[in-house]
Amino acid sequence: AAGEETLRDILNAHRDLEGPLLPILHAVQEAFGHVPQEALPIIAQDLNISRAEAHGVMSFYHDFRENPAGRTVLKLCRAEACQSVGADALADRTREKLGIDWHDTTADGAITLEPVFCLGLCACGPAAMVNGKLVGRADAAKLDKILEGAR
Ligand code: FES
Repeated sequence: AAGEETLRDILNAHRDLEGPLLPILHAVQEAFGHVPQEALPIIAQDLNISRAEAHGVMSFYHDFRENPAGRTVLKLCRAEACQSVGADALADRTREKLGIDWHDTTADGAITLEPVFCLGLCACGPAAMVNGKLVGRADAAKLDKILEGAR
């Protein structure tokens, strides 16, 4: 399959690096938008490590997705400055509203929710990021609008 060929190319390009697993996982996610379940055993075998090890590394770094992301990726800042201006309540409300937890995607594939630790917008918290675009002073009304637009 085309996907497998891409994976082979990625392995060929990275396998001789020192500590090749992370760059390989990043390249796979870049190419496919996530790290497909089927890719892990192939990567593990290629690098001569166990599947459990590959999986352990992947889940340790929250950057990697096991499933395709939603069309809109909403990141909410969970760091201190934003927490002090209500980010936790906003996050709870958002999770409840979407019916998903962190790192999950709504069943219709519209929205993925990710935590993030400081977006550099501390003075305008709570901070959010919507498909790479920063949103300052995020509140319930602003998020509702964004979420509506995403569906
Ligand atoms: Fe939220 Fe810095 S703490 S943007």
